[in-house]
Amino acid sequence: MPGAPGRTPLPARTRALYPVGVSTLSADTAADQSEIRALVEAEQGPFDAVLAARYAAHFPTLHGLFSRLYGERDDAREALAAVIGLVAASWAERPAELRAQDEARGADPAWFESERMLGGVCYVDRYAGSLTALREHIGYFRELGLTYLHLMPLFAAPEGNNDGGYAVSSYREVDPALGTMEDLRELAAELRAAGISLVVDFIFNHTSNEHEWARKAVAGEPGYDDFYLIHEDRTMPDAYERTTREIFPDDHPGSFVQLEDGRWIWSTFYHFQWDLNYANPAVFRAMAGEMLFLANQGVEVLRMDAVAFIWKRLGTACESLPEAHLLLQAFNAVLRMAAPSLLFKSEAIVHPDEVIEYISPGECQISYNPLQMALTWEAMATRDASLLSQALERRHELPAGTAWVNYVRSHDDIGWTFADEDAAELGIDGYSHRRFLNDFYVGRTAGTFSRGAAFQENPRTGDARIAGTTASLAGVEAGDAGGEDRVVLAHAIAMSTGGMPLIYLGDEVGQLNDYYFRDRPAEADDSRWVHRPHRPAEAYAVREDPRTFSGRIHGRLTRLLEVRRATAEFAGNTLLPFHVPEPAVLGYQRPGEETTVLVLVNVGDREVTVTSTTLSGFAPEARELIEDRELDLSRGLRLPPHSTRWIRVTPKA
Ligand code: GLC
Repeated sequence: MPGAPGRTPLPARTRALYPVGVSTLSADTAADQSEIRALVEAEQGPFDAVLAARYAAHFPTLHGLFSRLYGERDDAREALAAVIGLVAASWAERPAELRAQDEARGADPAWFESERMLGGVCYVDRYAGSLTALREHIGYFRELGLTYLHLMPLFAAPEGNNDGGYAVSSYREVDPALGTMEDLRELAAELRAAGISLVVDFIFNHTSNEHEWARKAVAGEPGYDDFYLIHEDRTMPDAYERTTREIFPDDHPGSFVQLEDGRWIWSTFYHFQWDLNYANPAVFRAMAGEMLFLANQGVEVLRMDAVAFIWKRLGTACESLPEAHLLLQAFNAVLRMAAPSLLFKSEAIVHPDEVIEYISPGECQISYNPLQMALTWEAMATRDASLLSQALERRHELPAGTAWVNYVRSHDDIGWTFADEDAAELGIDGYSHRRFLNDFYVGRTAGTFSRGAAFQENPRTGDARIAGTTASLAGVEAGDAGGEDRVVLAHAIAMSTGGMPLIYLGDEVGQLNDYYFRDRPAEADDSRWVHRPHRPAEAYAVREDPRTFSGRIHGRLTRLLEVRRATAEFAGNTLLPFHVPEPAVLGYQRPGEETTVLVLVNVGDREVTVTSTTLSGFAPEARELIEDRELDLSRGLRLPPHSTRWIRVTPKA
């Protein structure tokens, strides 16, 4: 087992050489590099050639980050030495097949940018019952073409409401209702053999109030008293709350909750999720240990939960502070030494200027694309693709070596995270537009096609988000004639803009909202459960039958997936705009080596003609890939309502 920080004391020599409270980092990186290595080797044996090379390559980065984060503290060196100790122990125990994976991925660093990548996400209990039972679905996952499977949080968590598992009581124990750590390892191996990477959450901003660290912190146990952000009275909480946002106002106002003993503890989300104090390097060290443990179980992608919140500073919103990035980069540098094939996926559902800052090869290599997701829904409600089109033009580009994860909806609510500045350029007022979208999607607007639920409506600020399954939000539940097409077009956009599409499993057979959550006490107060139904077995059973609604959705989506896999132009992220003088039409180009795929989507309720003049930059002979038929662009193109076209064109020289 890799060392268990927080439980196992530091190696004796580490303590002897760097007793807490006496040693900071040196400005001489090379000196620290050799000294710390010597120290760890004396405890744990010599580094092998592989580790030595990675240590040489990445220690300076980690040292630099530690200096910036913790340079002022006199326990920084001790913590860094302990982290390197964890790296060495973790590498020594890394199973052979995972080492082989490290090597293979090292030789093919763009593996996740391929047009063959496809993600799926599900809850273990809701989709299958248990980790073992989930293995029976691997055949279906292969049929669908999944290469990435995100299992929603599956760790030990408090009974009852635990925020869908996002309140973790132990990162080393699987929720007993789902199985054991060994089951997880076996599942990871079986998925890997099927070409599917296991993705789990790394919920590192907070733990549950039942985590061992939390209990020790509240009890004031030495070494743990500074693990969380606890204040004796309201002075500091009041000061912080002057500038922080309320994230779960239905649960508690502000950012703090009161402990039984009267003190106040930072709690961004539910009152039982306590934020960790990353200003304390011992917290970084402890979490790095949990991360390395998960890496060695066979997890290939860590979904970095709630990244925006991990660093706090008085007088700021305490979101996306510069140190949040340094921390992520430091975790990343640790992985590059001990488990280099892992990827980080950023979960930053914030302003688009902030989302992009988390994405780089040295930080998070992949990221949710919340702007594209939200604006896809915005376009469907307004029947106007202008905002989405503008976002693709100016906010889609990414640094080399990174990729978007494009989704239609997730297990979370949908928030309208577009930039007000962008909207203003199109004459849209952000505040009233969000109100319109919320009303539209919760079904309050006359003529809406959507059946959604409001999430965390804050009467004080007017802020709200929405919840619902794809089919229910898109109009299927309301019986709208465009419902089925909208489910398809929303997925078609996610599959074709560049990056990895991610399907919420069950949506590919058109699952509807589950209103029974209101009868389940642990879920009743959290409307996100409306879109987290159990695996829709009946819908799956008829998925091959085109006479059923589920069969049609499934047939149309699997056709899109098949075409995507065979379309080299869809690899990578390069996207060029394509303007159609019709607000309802979204257009963009995905250039390949010689040919380009032109994507045209009509989000409106009326047929639109794209004229031959608009298409005159391409040779007239073209091929529509979804329907697999020849087109003559010199005759223009008719786009029926809610239709999608993926057209292989040859740009004129
Ligand atoms: C993330 C999760 C969300 C959870 C929150 C707190 O945003 O996606 O479901 O409530 O973090 O962990």
